[in-house]
Amino acid sequence: MMLHNNFGIDLGTSTIKIYDQKKNTITKEKNMIAIRDDEVFAIGNDAYEMFEKTPQNISICSPMKNGRIADVFQAEAVLHTLLNHSQSAVGYHPNLFFAVPVGMTQIEKRAYYAVAHRGKLRKCKIFLVDRPIADALALGIPIKKTKGSMIVNIGAQSTEISVIADSRVIVSKLVPIGGTQFNTAIRSNIRRKNNLHVGNKTARRLKMALADMNRGIHEGRKVVGTDCSNGLPRNGIITARTINDAIIENIRPIAREISPLLQRTPPQVHTNIQKEGIYLAGGSSRIPNMDKYLSNALECPVQLSTYYDLCTICGLKELVTHPAIWHFAYPTTR
Ligand SMILES: Nc1ncnc2c1ncn2[C@@H]1O[C@H](COP(=O)(O)OP(=O)(O)OP(=O)(O)O)[C@@H](O)[C@H]1O
Ligand SMILES: [Mg+2]
Repeated sequence: MMLHNNFGIDLGTSTIKIYDQKKNTITKEKNMIAIRDDEVFAIGNDAYEMFEKTPQNISICSPMKNGRIADVFQAEAVLHTLLNHSQSAVGYHPNLFFAVPVGMTQIEKRAYYAVAHRGKLRKCKIFLVDRPIADALALGIPIKKTKGSMIVNIGAQSTEISVIADSRVIVSKLVPIGGTQFNTAIRSNIRRKNNLHVGNKTARRLKMALADMNRGIHEGRKVVGTDCSNGLPRNGIITARTINDAIIENIRPIAREISPLLQRTPPQVHTNIQKEGIYLAGGSSRIPNMDKYLSNALECPVQLSTYYDLCTICGLKELVTHPAIWHFAYPTTR
């Protein structure tokens, strides 16, 4: 019987993913918090449900920004509430393994300690795992043997580009672009082309329905928005082209960041990446033909992970359940 439970936690900007070893489950919930008059009003999916529907005295936001903790108190409230949902499993002194961006400052590392080490969890042990290492474990990359593997994880507000070689992450760059930036660009394209104002959730729905990097499609969707000239509600037809143009605008800078990293890797590493292809993960890699687009832009094969947004948490699961590879995790303290 397990005395201490172990949890893997991927604190994403849009969703938090938790692996609970005792229950052997992965749960996913919106990383959102609703605050009314300085008091927590709702958390997780409940907070997201209210997004764009609340009166002005309720603010709804994510405790994260661009893949990093932005507000320790809010992140603590979300994490503890979600962990308490699996009450029986938290038990005493659990080990928590957080996937984190590479190259954090001491203060950023301490933020994970501050977020977790409270209340029922004040005796837990906290370990950090570099996100590309977690992704590599899920992707089955032999971390100790690989001569060079590149992973690109396109999330909600960040894209992490990393190269693993010699058992470690030799290059990593966090670019502040992801699905949220795609949504913002979609809204501004709709304003420009259709003179219509639509909300974030509508932009996200349109992205899910119409986005395709193989830009040949001529589909459209009817939406209700607010006319930008007179502020009255009206219908509009949004074409796939409007959506795809907005996404391409944001994917190009990502490709421009990957390219020099790829070129600057040592020849042996570069050859291996060309041979095995760039691994693509993260929720935003669900956009159809994103892999083909990047492969053309970078002149390098791209391998799409079918774990998508669950890639990192699946890697944490692999680590948590195999103590022999816990050396990839490092402790953090106050
Ligand atoms: N089918 C889909 N088509 C397009 N985008 C999608 C699809 N499914 C999810 N997404 C996008 O994926 C993003 C969430 O991905 P993910 O869970 O990897 O991000 P995150 O871990 O919360 O964020 P980050 O890693 O930036 O902190 C959201 O922006 C969402 O809109
Ligand atoms: Mg993520």
